[in-house]
Amino acid sequence: METQVVIIGGGPSGLLLSQLLHVRGISSIVLERKTKSYVLSRIRAGVLERGLLALMQEAGVSDRMEAEGYPHDGTLISYGDEIFRIDFPEHTGHSVMVYGQTEVTRDLYKAREEAGGLIEFEVDDVQIHGADTDDASVSYTVGGETRRISCDFIAGCDGFHGVSRQAIPLDVRREYEKVYPFGWLGVLSETPPVAHELIYSTSQRGFALCSMRNENLSRYYIQCSLSDKPSDWTDTAFWEELKRRIPEKYAEALVTGPTIEKSIAPLRSFVTEPMRWGRLFLCGDAAHIVPPTGAKGLNTAASDVHYLYNGLRQFYESGDTSGIDGYSAKALARVWKAERFSWWFSSLLHRYPDQSEFDIKMQVAELEFLRTNASAQKAMAENYVGLPY
Ligand code: FAD
Ligand code: DHB
Repeated sequence: METQVVIIGGGPSGLLLSQLLHVRGISSIVLERKTKSYVLSRIRAGVLERGLLALMQEAGVSDRMEAEGYPHDGTLISYGDEIFRIDFPEHTGHSVMVYGQTEVTRDLYKAREEAGGLIEFEVDDVQIHGADTDDASVSYTVGGETRRISCDFIAGCDGFHGVSRQAIPLDVRREYEKVYPFGWLGVLSETPPVAHELIYSTSQRGFALCSMRNENLSRYYIQCSLSDKPSDWTDTAFWEELKRRIPEKYAEALVTGPTIEKSIAPLRSFVTEPMRWGRLFLCGDAAHIVPPTGAKGLNTAASDVHYLYNGLRQFYESGDTSGIDGYSAKALARVWKAERFSWWFSSLLHRYPDQSEFDIKMQVAELEFLRTNASAQKAMAENYVGLPY
């Protein structure tokens, strides 16, 4: 088989890239290790930046998002008895959109299927060959049969545990990592959200986030111990702990109910450099992870897709290689800023096991500064709505 771009990974990065390339007449084949229903069962990000919205529009897949998504003009931040709001349009002229990653992925699968795009599911043993030569290809097995696709380029969109990053030799690759000493326990429940906007809350008991998917679907998270398992937390225990970590007014208004999903994610900051090796380009979680505080994971994956898609388009339209040559440096410059914001926002809002009284005073002072200082709010809002591409 032959195609212009082999895309390893059928998560949001891989599908978005494939659909954008298709719109420009560039062929691709997507290789996905899991089934479509498995990919769609993963509950992940919920807040989309304007850059991702624009890419969805360009890919021709924004209709449902525009009809069913919820534009948000601000967010609430609480600590102790204090609660304040940061207004996004006031500080930046932009908003964000609440629309789940699951829905983004569903819309992209639909578009790829309608366009007759080839997605191979349940592939195994994906191997990259000749990425540093003019004879690149990808082999894999599916249903017991081994196949090989020759291609011009390979996009490694296979997430943190994928094979693409590992294909870059160790003497070329450099990795930077910070592991946080806690996780997030997240639940989904068919209950109305406690507030119209998200609440990022910190308390003596740790961090909590009140988010949502729609008027009758809420997403809540609490900071938890890394040794906790979802089964350690009954629904009642979760709701009681959440109530203890948010302002009383919201705890009283919280509508609880049975949870329909419960999972724990560890928190990590991770970046690999470079993001290109020969004909192989890394995109999204394959190259970097941010802690979820601030919802930058999916959005940073989207900015990689933007740079790679435009570089490939430029190459196929005019033979100009400057976009693909500059891909790694451009993508990384934005990635590191998203890393900084997610690290800062995580550090501001979580309780750390080794935190001193002084450290806690510093967190409160920083929160006070953010509550009362317009410049600090503007900096936060600019990062939250997404830095320009
Ligand atoms: P992924 O979504 O990981 O997709 C990669 C795809 O590649 C997967 O479908 C995988 O099955 C496939 N794959 C892997 N290995 C191979 C292989 N060898 N061959 C073929 N296919 C392969 N971000 C937020 O902004 N907010 C959140 O609340 C949030 N919660 C998260 C919770 C969890 C548990 C995780 C893991 C991430 C979360 N994120 C969140 C981050 C966000 O979901 C990711 O940044 C986003 O999914 C990145 O998209 P991606 O397509 O790059 O990678
Ligand atoms: C969600 C997740 C986040 O990490 C975040 O900062 C905001 C919202 C969510 O899943 O809704």
